[in-house]
Amino acid sequence: MKVFQSVYFVSGLAAIAGLLFGYDTGVISGAILFIRQDFGLPPGEIGLIVSAVLIGALVGSAFCSQITDRIGRKGSLLIAAILYVLSSTSSALSQGVVELIASRFFLGIAIGISSLTAPLYLAEIAPAKLRGLLVSLNQLAITIGILSAYGIAYALSADQAWRWMLGIGVIPAAILGIALLMLPESPRWMMLKGKVDQARKILSKLRSGADIEPEIKEIEHSLSHEKANWKSLFSKPVRPALVIAMGLACFQQTTGINTIIYYAPTIFEKAGFGTASHAILATVSVGIINVLFTIISLPLLDRIGRRPLLIFGMTGMFLSLAIWGLAFQVGNLEAFRWVALACMLVYVACFAISLGPIMWLMVSEVFPLKLRGIGTSISICAQWGFNFLVSGTFPSLLHAIGPSYTFWLYAVLCLAGIIFVIKKVPETKGLSLEKIQF
Ligand code: BGC
Repeated sequence: MKVFQSVYFVSGLAAIAGLLFGYDTGVISGAILFIRQDFGLPPGEIGLIVSAVLIGALVGSAFCSQITDRIGRKGSLLIAAILYVLSSTSSALSQGVVELIASRFFLGIAIGISSLTAPLYLAEIAPAKLRGLLVSLNQLAITIGILSAYGIAYALSADQAWRWMLGIGVIPAAILGIALLMLPESPRWMMLKGKVDQARKILSKLRSGADIEPEIKEIEHSLSHEKANWKSLFSKPVRPALVIAMGLACFQQTTGINTIIYYAPTIFEKAGFGTASHAILATVSVGIINVLFTIISLPLLDRIGRRPLLIFGMTGMFLSLAIWGLAFQVGNLEAFRWVALACMLVYVACFAISLGPIMWLMVSEVFPLKLRGIGTSISICAQWGFNFLVSGTFPSLLHAIGPSYTFWLYAVLCLAGIIFVIKKVPETKGLSLEKIQF
């Protein structure tokens, strides 16, 4: 069917992987309240159920380069879709804690594989001038997934239906699996495997008949100059790419976004929004702002560019974290909770136009084709490691040093991130993947 060859349509379908990522990482914050009651869990086991996904994602992304380079971008997304279906089903049907933790671990592996492969696939099929927009559809889908998780958890909470909350993810996973059967493989991966004629056919359909020869030549030329050996990741020409990707992966997480995405109700309670319905409403507003500002960022990525958006957004994140910390210092004022709410929303908006989409985008852009699988794998694995570290230590940090110093700590890391971007991150807007070199 012709529609399956339009680059917009193909990108939209591939981005369902992002929806699953967002939904399955977000839904547990609501479901865990009822799982705890049903299974009568101690805090340690609750922590394990929540973090099993993150550990799985770390493992999945670590081994993903073997799959994505060997069987292709489409094949590894298909494996992820099958794993999503199986593990969501077994999470929903779990009869005990061990079963649930194991299912969530396999779900994490699916998230790890798809979180890496989807942006990579999108970057490799997109024309240079639309790459920011098309790759970031994945981030938009992540934010929509998180918002739907909040909404569905809220809607099903009256019935305490945690099994449905976990099981609903099967539907988009099955849609992704079926859609993948009809989507084309990445033409760049085809060229990597020496299948130039097939790559030419796919690219010509994706470019709707426009002249593709310059693009093919460019890919051929850069392949003939690249080394495939993993040690060359540390060679002089490739090292800056590794530094940029690892740096962005680190700062995306250590500036604290998931303390809000995973713990928003707890933070709102601490800020004086006493009732559960107030806390949930405030949490949903976080989800809505996240989606809205990601939409705003999409056309700006290819127009204004990655660097200015990163610097602008991270400065906003830094200021809101700093003021937020201050608000907790003078917490007895009535205006305080509104200042805290405003800071949280501004912070999420600034993340959504900067580190949110741009980390995924640039990690998929900066590595040369032969090293793209392994390079993204190392960086995204680090990203999941930092996610695990930050979300795992947040409750103890709150308890040990209090909210002010916790948020100031993230503010200091954000400042370090801004300096890193100014010094190390180049502009990649409008350049073909083959022209991005350091
Ligand atoms: C991050 C996730 C985060 C989400 C929030 C993604 O880019 O990788 O860790 O939960 O954005 O929108």
